[in-house]
Amino acid sequence: VDIKVFTHKKDLQNARKNIREEKKIGFIPTMGNLHEGHISLIRESFNQNDITFISIFVNPLQFDQDSDLKRYPKTLQEDIKLIEQMKGNHEVIIFAPESAHEILPQNLQTQICVSPLNNMIEGLSRPGHFNGVTTVVYFLLQLVKPRNAYFGKKDFQQFVIIKKMVSDLDIDVTIQGLETQREKSGLALSSRNQFLTSQDHIIALNLRNTLLQLKREFTQFHDLQKKIKDIKKNDSSWDYLELRRASDLATPSHSDNQLVILAVYKVGSVRLLDNIEITVSQ
Ligand code: PAF
Repeated sequence: VDIKVFTHKKDLQNARKNIREEKKIGFIPTMGNLHEGHISLIRESFNQNDITFISIFVNPLQFDQDSDLKRYPKTLQEDIKLIEQMKGNHEVIIFAPESAHEILPQNLQTQICVSPLNNMIEGLSRPGHFNGVTTVVYFLLQLVKPRNAYFGKKDFQQFVIIKKMVSDLDIDVTIQGLETQREKSGLALSSRNQFLTSQDHIIALNLRNTLLQLKREFTQFHDLQKKIKDIKKNDSSWDYLELRRASDLATPSHSDNQLVILAVYKVGSVRLLDNIEITVSQ
C-alpha cells in the first residue's frame, strides 16, 4: 500500500471515517525533522496497530519565542521519504497540514491547560509552552481518534502532562512513553542537536554523564538531593536539575521510591533536555 499524505483536515477526516471500528490505530504526533527517536515510536506503532497515523506539524502555539519557531528545521520531503523507506507492508497515513488552520481554528480562544504541571520546571522557562502542546495534541487526538498514541520520554514532563490531560478529560486512548534514543556518546537525539558545534558536543557529554553518575552512585533520597544541590552550585550551565516523583512530578518525600531527575543543560545557544528515572531505597 502506498503512503497517503493529507494536507487538508477534511481529507484526513474522510479517510478516518472509512476505517472500520475494529482496526487498531496508532498515532505519532511530530513536528517533523524526523530522527531515530521518532522512528522508534513509529516502529512501536507498527508492532502494535493495524494502521499508523503520523502528523507532521510545527505547532506555533508551543513556541514562546518567534526566533525559535523560525529556525525550527522544516524537512517535509525528507521526512516522507524516511517513512516510506521503513514502512514495509504497514499502512501509514501522514497528516502534514498545509496551514495551521487545518488543525487550529482561526481566532482560537480555547486552550487546554494542565495546571500546575504546565507551569513548573520546563514550564517556568517557557511560559505557555505546555498549554500550546496540550491544545494541539487535544485537537490531533480528536481528529485521529487513535487507540494508542506514542511519545518519547526524553520530554518527560510533556509525557506526564499529556497522560494527565487524557485521564482528566477521559479521552479514550492509551498514551505510550518510549525510551529516549541516543547518539553513541549518550546525547539524547533532538532536532536541536544540529545547532551544536563539535566543541559543544564535547561539553554536552556532561549532561548525560552527570545523570548516569547520580543514578549509579546515589541510591538514597537524601544523598541524591544533596549531591544535586552541589552539582548545580558548581556549574552555572544547569538551567535546572530537579529531583521529582516520577508519576506526577510532585516534590518527592523520602517515602517515594520511583523518582526522576529532569535536567536542562545549556550549551552554546542550545538548551539540552534530558532526564533519568531512578528507583531509590528507603
Ligand atoms: O514532542 C513534540 O514533537 C511536540 O511537542 C508534539 C507532541 C508533536 C506536539 O506538537
